[in-house]
Amino acid sequence: MKIEIVAGTLGAVKADAIVVGVAADDKRMPPGLAALDRQAGGRIAGVLAAEQFRAKPGAVTHLHVADGFGASRIVVTGLGTRKEFGAEMVRRAAAAGLRRARDLGARTVALEVFGDRLPLRERAHAAVEGAILGTYVFDRYKREKSDKVVETLRVVAPDGKQTREITEGARRGEIFAQGTWLARDLINAPANDVTPTHVAEVAKQVAREGKLKLKVLERDDCAKLGMGAFLGVAQGSPEQPPKFIHLTYVPGGRAAKKVAVIGKGITFDSGGLDLKSADGMARMKNDMSGAAAVLGIMQALPKLGAKVEVHGFIAATENMPSGTAFRPGDILRAMNGTTIEIGNTDAEGRLTLADALCYAARFVEPHEMIDMATLTGACVVALGPLCSGLMASDQRLADRLLAAARGAGERVWQLPLIDEYKEQFRSDVADLNNTGGRNGGAITAGLFLREFAGDIPWAHFDIAGPAFIDKDSPLGPKGATGVAVRTILTYLTDGK
Ligand code: BES
Ligand code: MN
Ligand code: ZN
Repeated sequence: MKIEIVAGTLGAVKADAIVVGVAADDKRMPPGLAALDRQAGGRIAGVLAAEQFRAKPGAVTHLHVADGFGASRIVVTGLGTRKEFGAEMVRRAAAAGLRRARDLGARTVALEVFGDRLPLRERAHAAVEGAILGTYVFDRYKREKSDKVVETLRVVAPDGKQTREITEGARRGEIFAQGTWLARDLINAPANDVTPTHVAEVAKQVAREGKLKLKVLERDDCAKLGMGAFLGVAQGSPEQPPKFIHLTYVPGGRAAKKVAVIGKGITFDSGGLDLKSADGMARMKNDMSGAAAVLGIMQALPKLGAKVEVHGFIAATENMPSGTAFRPGDILRAMNGTTIEIGNTDAEGRLTLADALCYAARFVEPHEMIDMATLTGACVVALGPLCSGLMASDQRLADRLLAAARGAGERVWQLPLIDEYKEQFRSDVADLNNTGGRNGGAITAGLFLREFAGDIPWAHFDIAGPAFIDKDSPLGPKGATGVAVRTILTYLTDGK
């Protein structure tokens, strides 16, 4: 979708449809809509009254208008009540409005920067982000593609003085959404195409486009570095070699700080010899959602001109059962020398992440490390499909990430790292066991990872629930969501 900023009144902008917002408890129409309504001889007010349009979030209606307008369709989208209003309402209203305009066949859509109160820049960001995310489709593998596509979005600036703020906000929203699309596409694509080798190829493209540094370690390179935990998981896949990917973004000026972002990159999780059930395995192509988020983030950073140095890491591998697979009872040695007894080969994510954390800590020494992982079913049980778990060794880091998530409109809830639970992964024969009991599974997985972060402030998002959902949501269809991209980008660019 091409984004353009145009100056002028809503009624005059050339488009196939105009999308305008209305709040539930507004006594009078907002000025832009009121002018449009006058132009339409009161027909908009008439339709809203006849339909008893309540402007609930996500509610949309439309009417067709004739001569005198730049567009022939007017789509009205609900902004909810003033109390509910915020950036998330703007995103959802834009998403619902754009979907309606698209379904009516509009190819060029004019969009008002709805609402008030919030700074214009933030509203423009949210509107464009919502418009792009809300119209996401994944039809790459279908013969029949929908011919209803919005090609151009014209964001309207009624006052010339607003153009700059709208342009900046809209651009930011576009970049955030594009990063999220990249992640969604990678996650939705199947594991027979999205292999570790493919993930490395996408990293190469992202590096080339954004002028990032890229280093890809092969199996042998990882062996030389002693990454025995990662390679233990990878040894079940002689056919699909693992790739350890390191992308670096260095800002133009002096970097404010150095941050490592690490994504779980299991391109398919069969469970290994501790094989999953058919139901449990069905959607495990999504077990690289953290890795996909890293790529989305790294793609966006140069476009945003972020001021921090960011290192992106992905330990990409499948987790397969085979004659060469690692076994329950095996003892692996991670890069920092820690030995790990395998209690369950299906607890593979923490093994790959353990070496990624060791690598980042040793070779980059970042100020902070943040990982994102579809790590535990237990986190889905605890928080459901719409909320990620956050665990952190440093409360200030956790607080800043929670604030970023709030700003981005992604739900995150912090879970406690309860030290006593460490006894669950005590081993008789090694330093650690890779599994705890059933209780508190998200927390014990977090505690396990913390062992490999050393003294560096570290945070961990368990995105097992929200990474892939089985119902359509306000900002996208069922399937991959691209969760965590927008939260981390908000964090790394500090709400600018
Ligand atoms: N990738 C899964 C976690 C997962 C489960 C993500 C459901 C999304 C939905 C992970 O590798 C896994 O299998 N975890 C096990 C850990 C257990 C063996 C300690 C789990 O959660 O059951
Ligand atoms: Mn697993
Ligand atoms: Zn997994």
